[in-house]
Amino acid sequence: MMRASNTVLGLVNFTTFLLSIPILAGGIWLSAEANQTDCMRFLQWPFIALGLFILVISLMGFAGACYRVSWLLWLYLFAMFLVIATLFSLIVFAFAVTSKGAGRPVINRSYLDFYLSDYSGWLKDRVSDKDYWAKISSCLREARICRKIGRSVGGVPESPDLFYLRHLSPIQSGCCKPPTECSYTYINETVWNPSNGITVAESDCLRWSNDQDQLCYSCGSCKAGVLASLKKSWRKVSVMNIFLLVILVILYVAGLAAFRNNRRIDNNEPLGENRMTKLQPTRTHLTLF
Ligand SMILES: *[C@@H]1O[C@H](CO)[C@@H](O)[C@H](O)[C@H]1NC(C)=O
Repeated sequence: MMRASNTVLGLVNFTTFLLSIPILAGGIWLSAEANQTDCMRFLQWPFIALGLFILVISLMGFAGACYRVSWLLWLYLFAMFLVIATLFSLIVFAFAVTSKGAGRPVINRSYLDFYLSDYSGWLKDRVSDKDYWAKISSCLREARICRKIGRSVGGVPESPDLFYLRHLSPIQSGCCKPPTECSYTYINETVWNPSNGITVAESDCLRWSNDQDQLCYSCGSCKAGVLASLKKSWRKVSVMNIFLLVILVILYVAGLAAFRNNRRIDNNEPLGENRMTKLQPTRTHLTLF
């Protein structure tokens, strides 16, 4: 009996341990995959931290189960509970914060245009904050994201018609070209001249600069592009987190059951006829007297 529940605990912890490896790998993959969201590197850290934390916890639970150290097991169950609660809040937070906003389709263009006014809430305030935006935009500049969209054949830039057919990423669309409604004339991907006689109200049109270090980095559309890109990656991470949460809850319940079983044997409690009643702490207490 004693052996069996310890084996279950050991197995649960071993599975948890195995689980922490893909989480760590996921964090590293996320940073490698999201080449053009380099500036949102901070995204990977919660992942790697969580993976490491789960790894440590599972080793703790494993040692606790093997050597029957009950305070380690208590700590394990408590830490596991914290991880599950944190994960749950992270998922809710990620969905709440990215619930609003999307790119707008434009006539005769394959890419979407982005408008800051389509976004709202905490994440928008964060990204638009002066200090934060200075950091993000200088990082985008250094990452040469806009230089990378250039496609030329023998020194001649691609034609406007080809450019209009491209599927640009939100950041490329928001930061590297003026909004379509400015009706600027395409010269190359990152050089656009104002058309004569057309005045536009959209203030992003005035912020556009052909200076290759300025472009639309100060535009609202660039912030909106960053928000759209964050939304995409947070959604991806959240889907993975939901899977993780389900597995962790199952493991936690299994671990909890094994732990209770262990304790009952330690306390020399008689085997109850109805094991379910043992799950209620007050009942467990009553059976002691
Ligand atoms: C567009 O032309 C400008 C000026 O000739 C050049 O500096 C820039 O690198 C070109 N942009 C791209 C994306 O090729």
